[in-house]
Amino acid sequence: MESGLPSVISQPVVATLTRSALFLVVTINSGSNAEATVRGLCADLSSLLRAVGLRDLQGSLSCVMAFGSEAWDRLFDEPRPKELHPFREIRGVHHAVSTPGDILFHIRATKRMDLCFELARQIMIRLGGAVIAVDEVHGFNYFDDRDLIGFVDGSENPAGPDAIRATLIGDEDTAFAGGSYVIVQKYLHDIASWDSVPVEEQENIIGRHKLSDIEQPDAVKKPYAHNVLTSITEDGEPVDILRDNMPFGQVGTGEFGTYFIGYSRTPRRIERMLENMFVGSPPGNYDRLLDFSRAVTGSLFFVPTVTFLDGVTVQQADPEILSQAAVAPERAVVATPSKPCGDGSLGIGSLKEEAGHE
Ligand code: HEM
Repeated sequence: MESGLPSVISQPVVATLTRSALFLVVTINSGSNAEATVRGLCADLSSLLRAVGLRDLQGSLSCVMAFGSEAWDRLFDEPRPKELHPFREIRGVHHAVSTPGDILFHIRATKRMDLCFELARQIMIRLGGAVIAVDEVHGFNYFDDRDLIGFVDGSENPAGPDAIRATLIGDEDTAFAGGSYVIVQKYLHDIASWDSVPVEEQENIIGRHKLSDIEQPDAVKKPYAHNVLTSITEDGEPVDILRDNMPFGQVGTGEFGTYFIGYSRTPRRIERMLENMFVGSPPGNYDRLLDFSRAVTGSLFFVPTVTFLDGVTVQQADPEILSQAAVAPERAVVATPSKPCGDGSLGIGSLKEEAGHE
């Protein structure tokens, strides 16, 4: 790394796409002890991750810890991330609900769910009575990276430097450069209705061919296609977010779901996509996927850097750490959970300058 320039270590937002993921959303109980307990975990997360991750280095265990708007104010001093706010519900043709969530843990591992489970267990032991888990989803990888509606999910994700540019904050908020925003929504599918739709119309709804995963030609795509409504531009240029959706479900109760998770350097991008999907663009031209998929949760979180988390003390955040966080996204150091690094750490503690999906 070049010397003389301040640098930060980002959390592994841009991590290897994995076969197992655990999404844990908690709320913080009232009382200052609860806040001190959470702050204590912030600084210790790296070592918890290291301890569990070392049990199988090939497992590429990683964890992203992110904070909701109200929780941020309870836990940390000024400044606050410029664009952090509660998830805004949308009442359009369909309803995007806003549900409680103070902290999100996005835990990923290649293949081994036991690694994710063990890290989540250790986190909850540390948090004890300070939090209540309001949602927990164990995601799995389904044939050919398909979601439970049968389409390959994630094909158009940016990779490498494009993924870093799409997700990590830069000069627009120097105090939080290297951080990110993340929106999660838990969707439940009416699989019986979806399966009754002819494949050709399913393909029109998604905008891609189901078997081959090839994108429909623009001339053929319907204006309401999912990939039309979620393709957006800023200043005339197409802009990306990074998704790592996961299927989940319970056959016994007929639950078939997609856990949507989108990272972006600004929440506005994801909010515009949601507006297009739920209200329509133009209004009324909404995403037909929503006729079969219902959002039952919705929360927005800020992802601080590892540098920030490591510097949190039990009493209060260290302003020194906050002011260190001036780095352009292209230079941001991004974690690679795939192997141990020079500092002996894994996942959020590990360093790699040219990150990407491996
Ligand atoms: C029920 C929930 C959802 C399902 C099952 C789903 C599924 C898919 C599938 C199959 C694709 C095409 C393959 C790909 O490029 O990944 C796709 C693309 C995409 N989705 Fe979703 N999605 C869901 C929700 C969302 C939400 C809530 C957003 C954003 C707010 C979103 C944003 C995108 C974007 C940006 C693309 C790529 C568009 C392109 O550039 O072609 N999706 N999704």
